[in-house]
Amino acid sequence: MKLSSFIKFAAFGVKTVLLRKNDPILGTVIVTDKCNLKCKHCSVNNITAVVHPYEQIRSEMETLYTMGIKILFFCGGETFLWKDGDKTIRDLVIEAKEMGFLIVNVVTNGTFPIDLPEADLILLSLDGDRERHNEIRGNTYDTIMHNIENATADNICLYMAINQINRNTVSHVCTVARDTKNIRAVSFNFHTPYPDTKELALTQEEKAKCCNVISEMMKQGAPVFNLKSAFPYLINNSFPTPCYQCVVIENGKVSTCGRCIDIPGLCDECGYFFVAEYTLIFKGNLKVIFEMFRTYLKYI
Ligand SMILES: C[S@@+](CC[C@H](N)C(=O)[O-])C[C@H]1O[C@@H](n2cnc3c(N)ncnc32)[C@H](O)[C@@H]1O
Ligand code: SF4
Ligand code: SF4
Repeated sequence: MKLSSFIKFAAFGVKTVLLRKNDPILGTVIVTDKCNLKCKHCSVNNITAVVHPYEQIRSEMETLYTMGIKILFFCGGETFLWKDGDKTIRDLVIEAKEMGFLIVNVVTNGTFPIDLPEADLILLSLDGDRERHNEIRGNTYDTIMHNIENATADNICLYMAINQINRNTVSHVCTVARDTKNIRAVSFNFHTPYPDTKELALTQEEKAKCCNVISEMMKQGAPVFNLKSAFPYLINNSFPTPCYQCVVIENGKVSTCGRCIDIPGLCDECGYFFVAEYTLIFKGNLKVIFEMFRTYLKYI
């Protein structure tokens, strides 16, 4: 991360904590909800299957930039399915950087060839070892590992949603992150139980066990892009929700925190690590703030 970006984030953090402000800093543009997969834990794919046109996405990026967003994510559906004429997701990343976003990340299922060197991080979903990942995501594990191996930059961060199917494969994903070319780190979430996937949620004990495994793997050198100091809050779902520093825009609609904000009761069971981490940081939790600086400087 550039020193100038670091200073801007630090200034935003100080202002937010001391003045108790609720300005957003992290924004996500949903480029499409169309997807080539139908993962068992996912409730947001192919609801409309519309690929939003370039002009609309560009205008949504401008909306977020004007709101003061500094960290931009492109998400889906499957982001690599996005195109309009000659333009691809890579053009969106380049334009976002030119527009002035300080960090630009893309979330993908990794089933398409990866040529996105301009992205700060490519969050690539890997949901366990071959057996468990394929049980959740169809027969895609080998294709994904091949695409990672052949990626044109080393900016990949694995992204694992831990649920009832794959909860015993956390150490496997940590090891893949540590030992595979082009992978910089791994970031975790716990399953967030949407009404149609409640059976995949973890109990408090299961979450605690996963956090112990992650902590142990961190000690053994696994590059984990999460904050250990937030684990107790994630295990007990005791972090504040929603995250007012995060916004999502999908088809012109801006939502605070996530698209899931309108689902009654879901925030009380939220499993997204970024929500715990950001809300604790901006409530002024010093332990989480110090760990955040160390972790971000290491991986971005
Ligand atoms: C919705 S997908 C979109 C991007 C891309 N298609 C992918 O799979 O990475 C974004 C991330 O959300 C995760 N996810 C989906 N449903 C979830 C849930 N109910 N709880 C936690 N994570 C979830 C996916 O595993 C993936 O890592
Ligand atoms: S690849 Fe991503 S968007 Fe598609 S079904 Fe799986 S989690 Fe959902
Ligand atoms: S806090 Fe609520 S809106 Fe935010 S990601 Fe979690 S469930 Fe979704």
